[in-house]
Amino acid sequence: MLKIAMTGARGYLGSLIRLYHKDKYEYISVTSADLDLSDPDRAREYFEQLDFDMVFHAAARPKTEECEAYPEWTRAINALAPIEIAKVCREKGKRFVFISTEQVYNGKSEPGPFAEDVPTDTVTNYGRHKVEVEQWLAENSQDYLVLRLSSMFGMALPGVKPSTNLISNTLNAIRGEKPTLFTVNELRGMTYAQRLADQFDKLIQLPTGVYHFTSENYINTYEIAKTIARGFGYDEETIAKYILPNHDRYKERFRDYRMDATKIQEHGIELGTFEEDLEICLRDFGWK
Ligand SMILES: NC(=O)c1ccc[n+]([C@@H]2O[C@H](COP(=O)([O-])OP(=O)(O)OC[C@H]3O[C@@H](n4cnc5c(N)ncnc54)[C@H](OP(=O)(O)O)[C@@H]3O)[C@@H](O)[C@H]2O)c1
Repeated sequence: MLKIAMTGARGYLGSLIRLYHKDKYEYISVTSADLDLSDPDRAREYFEQLDFDMVFHAAARPKTEECEAYPEWTRAINALAPIEIAKVCREKGKRFVFISTEQVYNGKSEPGPFAEDVPTDTVTNYGRHKVEVEQWLAENSQDYLVLRLSSMFGMALPGVKPSTNLISNTLNAIRGEKPTLFTVNELRGMTYAQRLADQFDKLIQLPTGVYHFTSENYINTYEIAKTIARGFGYDEETIAKYILPNHDRYKERFRDYRMDATKIQEHGIELGTFEEDLEICLRDFGWK
């Protein structure tokens, strides 16, 4: 059985993947209690001593504001430690799977979607951290995957707590009766996270390289929030009361960080559109 050392194993995507592939792989869950990635030297030592066939690196400090507030600490966790782990993988001849993000394109002025050969352009520390690891891998590793994910949405399952996403933000606004602003100046990919769990077997076998994993989206973040609210059965009056357009956020530069996922689909990975993904999610969780 393939032994997968998984960092971030208690996080949203790590726990979702483990839930659906319990018996297929032997997981070595590497949590922050086992290893604090803010110490990259310790990360190296830890992985040097570990017996594994592949590393699936899902740990990160993914909050943009936190990465801006604590640039050195978050860089150690998001970039320096994964590079140390990737070095160990190279020495042991094992594959390193790195979870990256569409945020590597958040500095772009031209419209997306962007294919993998479009150079990255990011204006946030979180994006820079991911790019730093990606570049190290491209220059130094023969056996790696970079999976650049769009925003991943879904709902809670036993042992799986979704990280903040547009579904939770929308439902919090309406259920909490808190009028909330959603920007009209942003276009991003929105993908049902279950697609990642369902296709995990195929994903980890992809040939070495960078892949975009995103369903297609053509509507801005405000329209997405309204579409989600309609999907949950809320009427237009309620939606108009709690889901409000934010015309100021990103008005100085419209943010379009959508990625083109043609390459990964040519390798047999199935993706859809945001609307299709939302339908599947609502059906899976009994809302349809
Ligand atoms: N979810 C998305 O929409 C999305 C989109 C694009 C890319 N990504 C990327 O996908 C990966 C997984 O995301 P996620 O949504 O599953 O994130 P998450 O739920 O926030 O989980 C992140 C995990 O990172 C671990 N971690 C944080 N600081 C650590 C430290 N100092 N030492 C060791 N582990 C630490 C945590 O481990 P413990 O629980 O053990 O403390 C946590 O389980 C991340 O790399 C993220 O950047 C996610």
